[in-house]
Amino acid sequence: MRTQVAIVGAGPAGLMLAHLLHCNGIEAIVVETRSRAYIERRVRAGVLEHETARLLDETGLGARMHREGLVHRGIELRFADRNYRIDFEELTGKTVLVYGQQEVVKDLIDARLAAGLPILFEHEVVSLDVGDPAGASIRVRSADGSEYTIDADFVAGCDGFHGIGRATIPESDQTVYDHTFPFAWLGILAESPPVSEELIYANHERGFALVSMRSRTVSRMYLQCANDEDLDEWPDERFWQELRVRFGSERGGPVISEGTVLQKGITPMRSFVCGSMRYRRLFLAGDSAHIVPPTGAKGMNLAIADVRVLARALEGWYASGSTTLLDGYSETCLRRVWKTQRFSTYMTRILHTFASDGPFERNVQRAELDYVTSSRAAATSLAESYVGLPFE
Ligand code: FAD
Ligand code: DHB
Repeated sequence: MRTQVAIVGAGPAGLMLAHLLHCNGIEAIVVETRSRAYIERRVRAGVLEHETARLLDETGLGARMHREGLVHRGIELRFADRNYRIDFEELTGKTVLVYGQQEVVKDLIDARLAAGLPILFEHEVVSLDVGDPAGASIRVRSADGSEYTIDADFVAGCDGFHGIGRATIPESDQTVYDHTFPFAWLGILAESPPVSEELIYANHERGFALVSMRSRTVSRMYLQCANDEDLDEWPDERFWQELRVRFGSERGGPVISEGTVLQKGITPMRSFVCGSMRYRRLFLAGDSAHIVPPTGAKGMNLAIADVRVLARALEGWYASGSTTLLDGYSETCLRRVWKTQRFSTYMTRILHTFASDGPFERNVQRAELDYVTSSRAAATSLAESYVGLPFE
C-alpha cells in the first residue's frame, strides 16, 4: 500500500490533518488502534477557541457545530465567596464555543468516510521507518494479527502522549521538558442542566473546582483531587456535596442541581514539551509532542493549531518541492506551544490549592485573582489567551 502522508492516530490532530490535506488534494491514510465507537465516545476536552471553530467552519465542518455548540462570551472566576466575570467579547471582540471533542471527532470521521477516504480503525502501527531520505514507511498490525507495510512520503505522529511516534525518536536526538503537578482532576459528566450560563472556575481552600457543560442538558464538572485519588471513594453523593462546598452553594453561591452521573474519571495534570517536533520524515503533532495541564482547555486547540501549520508545510512541499515550511515546522509550532504552556500554568497556579504553599504564597495567589478581576489590562491578557492567540 502507498500514500503521500501516513497518519498515525485518529484523534483531533490526525483526523484534522487528514481533512486539511484532503482539502488541498493531498492523499493520506489514517491508522487508528481503537474502534470507531471507542474514539467517538471518549469524553475529553470541550472548549473550542475562536480560531479552532473558524478553521472547522472554513473547511466545511461547521454546520452541526453551529447548530449544537454553545457560544460563550466570557467565564466567571470565583474566589472569596464571590463570582467575577471576564467578558471575552468586550475585551477581545472574540468568543469561544462549547462543543465536545468527541463531537469534533465524529464530524471529522463522518466527513472523511462520506468522501470515501480511508481510516483504518482497529489497526495498530507497530513500527515506523523514517530514516530514508527518499521516503518513509509504517508497519501496521490489523485486528486479526496480520501485518503489512504502508509506504509514504512522510509520517505524521498524531498518536497521543503514549504513542509510537515520539518513542521512535532516539533519546540522543530528543530534549524533553516535563513538569507534573501535585494534584489531579476528578471529573464527571452528568445529565443535569448547566450550573450557570457560563463556565465558573472556582478557587477554594479545599481545592479548585470547575463547572462546565456539553449541552443544555449535560454538565461537565471537575474537582481538584490527589494524584493517587481512588475513584471508589467518590460515590456520586460525595462528589455533589464537595462541589456545593467549593462553590459556596449554601452561602449565596450558585445552586447545583444533581443528575444521573454518566461518566466519572481522573485526569492527571502534567506539562510536557518535546524540544523538536520533527525527526527526519516524521512530524509530531498534538499530544504526541506536548501536554498542557487542562486548566484553560487548551489541549485539543493546540493539536488543531499544530496540524494547520503541518498541512500548510506539506502543501508547500507538494506544490513546489520547497522544504522551507517543513524545516520551520517545529519552531513555528513551539512558539505557540510555549505560550500555551505559560497560560495553562498560569491558570493552574492561580486557581488550585498547593499543599506546599505557605501564607505568603496564598496571599500572592489571592492578590493575583484580585488583580486579574479588577485590572482591565490583566483581564484582557487572560481573555486573549483563553479565546486563543491568532494563528501565525
Ligand atoms: P489523542 O486524542 O490522544 O489521539 C491519539 C490517537 O492515536 C488515539 O486515538 C490513539 O488510540 C491513537 N494511537 C496511539 N498509538 C497508536 C498506534 N501505535 N497506532 C495507531 N493509533 C495509535 N484537554 C482539554 O483541553 N480539556 C479537557 O478537559 C481535557 N480532558 C482530557 C481528559 C483525558 C482523560 C485526556 C487523556 C486528555 C484530556 N484533554 C483535555 C486533552 C485533549 O483531549 C488532548 O489534548 C487531545 O485529545 C489531543 O489530541 P491528539 O489527536 O493529539 O491525541
Ligand atoms: C472543560 C475542560 C477544561 O479543562 C476547561 O478549562 C474548561 C472546560 C470541559 O471539559 O468542559
